[in-house]
Amino acid sequence: MGIIIKGNLFYIQSKEMSMIIENREGDLLLRHIGGKIANYHGSNAILEKDHAFSGNPTPDNRTFSYDTQRQIFGVHGFGDFRCPSLKIQHDNNELTQFKLKDSHILHGVVEATGLPSPHSTESAETLVFVLEDEFAKLRLTLYYTAYADCTSISTFAKISNLSDKAVVINRALSTMLDVPASNYDVITLQGAYAREKTVRRQKVEQGIFSIASNRGASGHAQTPAMILCDGTATEEAGQALALQLLYSGNFQAFVQKNQLNEVRLGIGINDDNFAWQLAAGDNFETPVALMTYSAKGLTHLSQESQLFVQNHIMPKQFAHVERPILINNWEATYFDFKKEKLLDLADEASKLGIELFVLDDGWFGNRFDDNRALGDWVVNEEKLGGPLSDLIDKVHAKGLKFGLWFEPEMISVDSDLYRAHPDWAIQAEGRAHTYSRNQLVLNLANPDVVAYIKSAIDKILTENAIDYVKWDYNRNITNIGNGDSALATKMQSHVYMLGLYDLVSYLTEKHSNILFESCSGGGGRNDLGMMRYFPQVWASDNTDAISRLPIQYGSSYLYPIISMGSHVSASPNHQMGRTTPIETRGNVAMMGNLGYELDLTSLPESDKEVIAAQVAHYKDIRQVVQFGKHYRLINPEQGANEAAVQFVYEGKTVVTYVRTLSTIETIETTLKLKGLEEVATYRLQETGQVFSGAELMYAGLTVTLPQGDYLSQQYYFVKQ
Ligand code: DGJ
Repeated sequence: MGIIIKGNLFYIQSKEMSMIIENREGDLLLRHIGGKIANYHGSNAILEKDHAFSGNPTPDNRTFSYDTQRQIFGVHGFGDFRCPSLKIQHDNNELTQFKLKDSHILHGVVEATGLPSPHSTESAETLVFVLEDEFAKLRLTLYYTAYADCTSISTFAKISNLSDKAVVINRALSTMLDVPASNYDVITLQGAYAREKTVRRQKVEQGIFSIASNRGASGHAQTPAMILCDGTATEEAGQALALQLLYSGNFQAFVQKNQLNEVRLGIGINDDNFAWQLAAGDNFETPVALMTYSAKGLTHLSQESQLFVQNHIMPKQFAHVERPILINNWEATYFDFKKEKLLDLADEASKLGIELFVLDDGWFGNRFDDNRALGDWVVNEEKLGGPLSDLIDKVHAKGLKFGLWFEPEMISVDSDLYRAHPDWAIQAEGRAHTYSRNQLVLNLANPDVVAYIKSAIDKILTENAIDYVKWDYNRNITNIGNGDSALATKMQSHVYMLGLYDLVSYLTEKHSNILFESCSGGGGRNDLGMMRYFPQVWASDNTDAISRLPIQYGSSYLYPIISMGSHVSASPNHQMGRTTPIETRGNVAMMGNLGYELDLTSLPESDKEVIAAQVAHYKDIRQVVQFGKHYRLINPEQGANEAAVQFVYEGKTVVTYVRTLSTIETIETTLKLKGLEEVATYRLQETGQVFSGAELMYAGLTVTLPQGDYLSQQYYFVKQ
């Protein structure tokens, strides 16, 4: 486990994974990434041939070329015609050829300065490669951290300018991997607003397939992640490798199949509108990338990624703590509320057993609608009928925790903040603003802006007994032009991210007792960068139970279920207009962190009774859902009419099945459960029936539902 050096081979070993790198006369070549290998002897015949039109760095060796060798950081401009990992303009060109000068092993995790990094842990070891390009006078330091408890390796790069003049970085990937030719599929999590994390799987063909964001945020339409798997991989079988980025801004990820069918993967900051001026003596560090491997199919890959995120990325004080069942007033009231309405809602929530009351948008400044007041973080006492602390005391007195909504990175033109500091918005001098939800984005690349937001939010969090914060972000960045030179503007988007991480690390560390949930119109910034500070995310503004099935399914590919907020909302649903039974809305929301987002005060008694029972039941199964192993039994996208998931934790298992449309004269679905003990006896809590684990896994559980659309069934088994 950890880092082992044998001759000129470096072994980076995590729980079930090895990365083996060869030092060949200063070039670092990737010999293997995948399943664990203790002793590597392999030859790579295909790579040692004279391949026509590939550049050879030495005249007497026609069989060595950077174009065919598998690398971990591409030598740029010396015959490797694939996508480069670096482009650094020095002198009159962008050529770089880094050679290994030193390597050493450090105990624990090395953090990327100012960027989200995995937590330091005793069970990790970091291999440091120090490479230099003596001609360009540049140093490249690569960090690879292996974790004993997980099948993941994290990595990032540092570029140092050893020369006496500035250079410009035009491209800097966080990591790159060359893997052998094979029939691969690539899986990405794509989508749009209100249908985030759609699983898209396709064959890797010759050429380049890439995903990217240039929105200033990771975005609803793509996730900073890419999974490369065997073309035949299923949930249960086949090899798969996930590449993820701990970053919430502009990113790119690509897979390239070259003329020899060899495959290159890369992930990092998007080159588009990016450059970084590196002064003499300065360093630049890339965001951290994460590699996770499974030899046992996609479910195992997901479980390993979920485990890593929960153990090493999420704030530790919340990673393994049950999340409260909440009521959020947004879809109950939107902007139309007064103190009495909020207290009525809290009252009803408390009677139903709900644990946290969240006051969403509209409590501050002149915020009567979404056209104004962002930036004015002053309580509107008229609307709240007094100080915020009074409202909080009253909510607490009902036995509920209290949560509050913020959108700190934004500014409305109709706000006192804009009237005082119009130059604080992201903008290009002389050009009209581009609006989105009628708001602008604050320039977090300006330290004064970051300092203002820190103190404004800190004041409210310090003066009030707040238990939870929902941190929203409701537009993307345009009109980037605040730099005082073209180069400074090209640096602005990444400096923004450094400002954001400074802001959120300050607030979350200072208020470490507060549970922070990130949101960006739902899942517009649902990535590992945000998850490092915010242990929970509002996965989508789409609260329709049926629409949620693929969104939650896609999120589970890489992110732990405990990160995902999931609410029961009104029927007909506000986004989709669909009428769905309260039981199914509850069953779907119970596949994540259960919450409610509807006007409880206007519900019929029968619905309230169902909700009270759901809340009580979720308290019983909450650990199984939030701490358990997650299995995808039926894919809501391929199967279209059905979905099923299962959670297993400490001898307990919860299975949820949803059927979208009613069918006739079809055989009921039989679910083959997973992860149980064959010889153990499991009791179905609802009926008292008992089954053996083997029976549930191999004969299966046949679902019977009456006729009707949008019906579901949840089963809770406990080992006897
Ligand atoms: C978008 C969020 O996703 C919603 O849940 C809600 O908080 C609104 N913003 C409030 O403006």
